[in-house]
Amino acid sequence: MSIHSEVKRVTTHTLQEMKIKGEKIAMLTSYDFSMARMVDAAGVDVILVGDSASNVMAGHETTLPITLDQMIYHASSVVRAVQRALVVVDLPFGAYQGNSKEALTSAIRIMKESGAHAVKLEGGAEVRESIERILSAGIPVMGHLGLTPQSIYKFGTYTVRAREDEEAKTLLRDAKMLDEIGCFGIVLEKIPAALSKEVSELVYAPTIGIGAGADVDGQVLVVHDMLGITNEFNPRFLRRYHNLYEEIKGAVGNYVQDVRSRDFPNEKEQY
Ligand code: KIV
Repeated sequence: MSIHSEVKRVTTHTLQEMKIKGEKIAMLTSYDFSMARMVDAAGVDVILVGDSASNVMAGHETTLPITLDQMIYHASSVVRAVQRALVVVDLPFGAYQGNSKEALTSAIRIMKESGAHAVKLEGGAEVRESIERILSAGIPVMGHLGLTPQSIYKFGTYTVRAREDEEAKTLLRDAKMLDEIGCFGIVLEKIPAALSKEVSELVYAPTIGIGAGADVDGQVLVVHDMLGITNEFNPRFLRRYHNLYEEIKGAVGNYVQDVRSRDFPNEKEQY
């Protein structure tokens, strides 16, 4: 029996059961094989191949430039590493908005070419038709409400969303709609904690928060942020578990010094 067949995989049903039992869901991003291997081995339930790859992997200022081909490349690298977690892939900007046929084509490409298990896309009523068409092909969809970074030029800033009544009501309506049409989960990004509690109690699907407080069904962070590989992004919601920027810089500095001083390689490190 292979190792693979002994590991019980996380499915969308597992997440639903976790919500019913009150067990919290741990989700993190990954974009490459080596990181995904560690993240999966550490017991994360859901790995998101986020379009935040545009920022942390490619160095763009926003998530808008990343392409569908690039998302598929990242996703297939992650899928090759993962034994247990559910792998969810972001549909990038321009791959689903305003054209539900194109949305389905994009989602099918992700599923077929990367081997991922589900897709995520941003928005509410305005993307309903795209979500329904993707769902009709049997592809699980995760929604994303609140701060939706693909719409940054509409919002103008990355500040907390839905503080005002009108926007909060729209968000509640969108969450209910996403739940009713069959999304298996909903990411809630940067909204007041009281509102995400209300959403989580309203919907059947598990809610996953980022900057959305504690009363959600799970949490997600960008792995480069929580490990401190990025060091200039410091929102209030981010808990850093390491300072890898300094640690890696220190280790690389030591290597440079050892090469220059001829300490590396020594006699035992050669043939
Ligand atoms: O792209 C991403 O990393 C995300 C998370 C912030 C939820 O969408």
